[in-house]
Amino acid sequence: DYTPVPEDRFSFGIWTVGWQGVDVFGPGTRTPMPADRAVRKLAEIGAYGVNFHDNDVFDFDASPAERQEKIDAFRKALDETGLVVTTATTNLFSHPVFKDGAFTSNDRDVRRFALRKVMDNLDLAAELGAKTYVCWGGREGAESGAAKDVRAALDRYKEAFDVLGDYVADQGHDLRFAIEPKPNEPRGDILLPTIGHALAFIETLERSENVGLNPEVGHEEMAGLNYAHGLAQALWQGKLFHIDLNGQHGPRYDQDLRFGAGNARGAFWVVDLIENSDYSGPVHFDFKPPRTEDDEGVWESARACMRNWLILREKARAFRADPEVQDALRDAKLDELAVPTLADGEDWRSVRDASPDIEALATRGSAFERLDQLALEHLYGVR
Ligand code: GCO
Ligand code: MN
Ligand code: MN
Ligand code: MN
Repeated sequence: DYTPVPEDRFSFGIWTVGWQGVDVFGPGTRTPMPADRAVRKLAEIGAYGVNFHDNDVFDFDASPAERQEKIDAFRKALDETGLVVTTATTNLFSHPVFKDGAFTSNDRDVRRFALRKVMDNLDLAAELGAKTYVCWGGREGAESGAAKDVRAALDRYKEAFDVLGDYVADQGHDLRFAIEPKPNEPRGDILLPTIGHALAFIETLERSENVGLNPEVGHEEMAGLNYAHGLAQALWQGKLFHIDLNGQHGPRYDQDLRFGAGNARGAFWVVDLIENSDYSGPVHFDFKPPRTEDDEGVWESARACMRNWLILREKARAFRADPEVQDALRDAKLDELAVPTLADGEDWRSVRDASPDIEALATRGSAFERLDQLALEHLYGVR
């Protein structure tokens, strides 16, 4: 059966199941869910861990006493259920103060406040045992041209990560940052829109070794990109610190469907990649149960994220174990791709005057269709 166990390392954002369904066209359709209830219910359905924004646990304007009371209730639920805080993050997007961004707001006082808000929550994250700190810059961007000097904003973005990197080091926190790219929504255009932009940006940081990525399925697909390919490059560069799994139907608004819904073929390759990689972070779901659902529907949707991962894992394993697939992989020269183009001891001279039979090479088929059909037949459940 497809029952989650702790070794699966499934985790959820507190805000996912807690989403009330507020959208641009209407108010919430569900009542608020305290963080401690989310924790208890997630434990009940078989989750291993959670991720939280500061303001998923306590309100933006909570007094110190209210803040502590909410943190205590959250921690009590964690202790009683054994759920692990794998990850934490900061809400730098809901309050009107962040309407022009946080780290890259044109207003310097807003930027200074944003850094302080993150530092507060870094302390809480470390206290609760989180190892990864996600930074999704949803409000870092613009709707118009001259309003944002992108190069200056990137200077400020880098400055923020450099300052926060120093903070984490000086406090002795065992935390790494994971940047979450997104092309747009809520801003018209968001800075660091894709995995590729973020990877290049990270290399400019003072403590770049401590900063990696948290790519989300829907965000890459909104940009028309192949999420599994993006993950593979992040892995290749040693930068896949975390993943946000959900579902999306191509380039449109951010759907945040449950994992496995939307692009099912894409989801198959994601599971196949992650299960055959050295990724050791949580298998984390960042989805939004549609606002059509009541409380029961919320948990149905959350359970389905894990179930779909387990179903696709079984299919991906069966695909890799299928002798016909192994045959097709050889025909498609996957083993040959793994062989360096130059042999040991060779250099450019060895190929400078190569004269292969171009006609024969051009005529030879790649045998990819058979391989892909085998994958689809595993996915469609007929093999
Ligand atoms: C989105 C984002 C957010 C962030 C989360 C962490 O759907 O646009 O995924 O959900 O991941 O809020 O800050
Ligand atoms: Mn996300
Ligand atoms: Mn999203
Ligand atoms: Mn989301």
